[in-house]
Amino acid sequence: MKIAIIGAGNMGGAIARGLARSAKDVTIAVSNPTTGKLDKLKTEFPAIETTTDNVAAANDADIIVIAVKPWLVEQVIKEIEPGAPQVLVSVAAGIDTVDLERMTGETGMTIFKVIPNTAISLMQSTTLVASRNATAGQEEMMLSLFSAMGETFLIPEKQMAAATAMTSCGIAYALKYIQAVTQAGIELGIKPGVGMKMVAQSMNVAAELILQNDTHPVLEIEKVCTPGGITIKGVNSLEADGFTAALINAVKVAAK
Ligand SMILES: NC(=O)c1ccc[n+]([C@@H]2O[C@H](COP(=O)([O-])OP(=O)(O)OC[C@H]3O[C@@H](n4cnc5c(N)ncnc54)[C@H](OP(=O)(O)O)[C@@H]3O)[C@@H](O)[C@H]2O)c1
Repeated sequence: MKIAIIGAGNMGGAIARGLARSAKDVTIAVSNPTTGKLDKLKTEFPAIETTTDNVAAANDADIIVIAVKPWLVEQVIKEIEPGAPQVLVSVAAGIDTVDLERMTGETGMTIFKVIPNTAISLMQSTTLVASRNATAGQEEMMLSLFSAMGETFLIPEKQMAAATAMTSCGIAYALKYIQAVTQAGIELGIKPGVGMKMVAQSMNVAAELILQNDTHPVLEIEKVCTPGGITIKGVNSLEADGFTAALINAVKVAAK
């Protein structure tokens, strides 16, 4: 199987690296108009084929991943002219499969919209996948390819905006929490560098509790809140200051 990745930037580069590390019996070709990023990829993974010619990369590929900026997607599709039995994958934000279908000439080819988040650079992406004209087998294959770069979730496309607000934007909201708690620590005499690591580690553990156990935040919060203790004072203070409402609003605003 050959996978062509058009665009070797943050996203295309991370996908190429992830696939090069994980995918078996796959030829990976990456195209980009300038050679700097291609040369770097080639040095790291000599088996990756690199080229400045999109058509050459895509021509005999089974799967074509478009990883250019959204406003260049149509131009690239017109240039490479993908068609069945090839499978088209776009990671471009804001471009739906109905747009991609139009750009490909309404041929009914299999199309995937895949939205990884920035954690793909650590191979820990939360990757959202929506399909059009795909068989269950093709969906399975796509999930398996991207699962090498983190957790993948196949969702109906109409949920993409909400899920993106929770996962991609959600990283920023989690970072705001780390920033705010570190800031509180500074006021209380904890050095920022040390405090930031403490907070990040606490957040890590909170996430692991949910990921590793069959539990719910409410149950875990209850375990930490001794009656009459200090944590419940903080939790109640958070609620009084609108913490939950602020986060719900942030996700809803971002999903609009
Ligand atoms: N970064 C993220 O966290 C993230 C998350 C989800 C989705 N996305 C989506 O991923 C896509 C790429 O974003 P990015 O952050 O990876 O951008 P990026 O780092 O700027 O990468 C885009 C790459 O496309 C190359 N390129 C430009 N014109 C091209 C053409 N005609 N043919 C082939 N390659 C071309 C650029 O090459 P030169 O630099 O040499 O011009 C660059 O290497 C976007 O559509 C974005 O919406 C990104």
